[in-house]
Amino acid sequence: MFKKKPFFIVFEGVEGCGKSYQSKKLFNKLKRYKIKGILTREPGGTKSSELIRNLILKDYFNKNTKEKFDKYTDTLLYLAARNEHVKNKIKPALLKKQVVICDRFTDSTLAYQVYGKQVDIGFINNIHKKILGKIKPNLVFILKVSAKSSKLRLKKRKSKNRYDNFAQSFYTKAQQSFLKIAKNKKNYFVLDSSSNDAELEKKIFNIVKKYLNI
Ligand code: TMP
Repeated sequence: MFKKKPFFIVFEGVEGCGKSYQSKKLFNKLKRYKIKGILTREPGGTKSSELIRNLILKDYFNKNTKEKFDKYTDTLLYLAARNEHVKNKIKPALLKKQVVICDRFTDSTLAYQVYGKQVDIGFINNIHKKILGKIKPNLVFILKVSAKSSKLRLKKRKSKNRYDNFAQSFYTKAQQSFLKIAKNKKNYFVLDSSSNDAELEKKIFNIVKKYLNI
């Protein structure tokens, strides 16, 4: 029997892995089970965090390399957006014993800023300690995708973002980082999202069902 409790689910993976699609599917499924929750994303999720998201994404399209954000500015913007998001959306929902489904969270910072750009992990950990408190995901899905499928998904998108045109090696490296992060963690599930979306949806729901006792 389902008993209301705060529960935090995160979807992670490289661009075009289908995490936004799967998080929406899970959110709708829980709704059908009358389970209260919110679906949100990072960077973003609140008005002010979405403003910061726009700022970050705009900078990626800025062709003037001299005027581009330094990697620490970039990192601080992600963390600033996260602080707003946690304080104003995630924490209040968890306090109301709701299920929070979030498209990206702290592991994206590890994968892209720490492993990808060599930003100092201690710097990030310190800020996380301050802004997250006791908040951490109960369940993390890492969606693993083949180069071919992610490319196909990105091609179909109307709006592009920074990595849409990046070299394949960049995606491969980011995916390897996510897999490394997931290693030996009991509440992390690495699932292949290259082909059958419906089957993956079922797999995800079965795992969530067990955790939530539905
Ligand atoms: P999205 O378009 O998949 O929602 O993500 C926006 C971009 O932000 C994506 O390229 C990954 C990047 N990102 C980071 O580099 N660090 C972070 O901490 C987060 C949350 C996202």
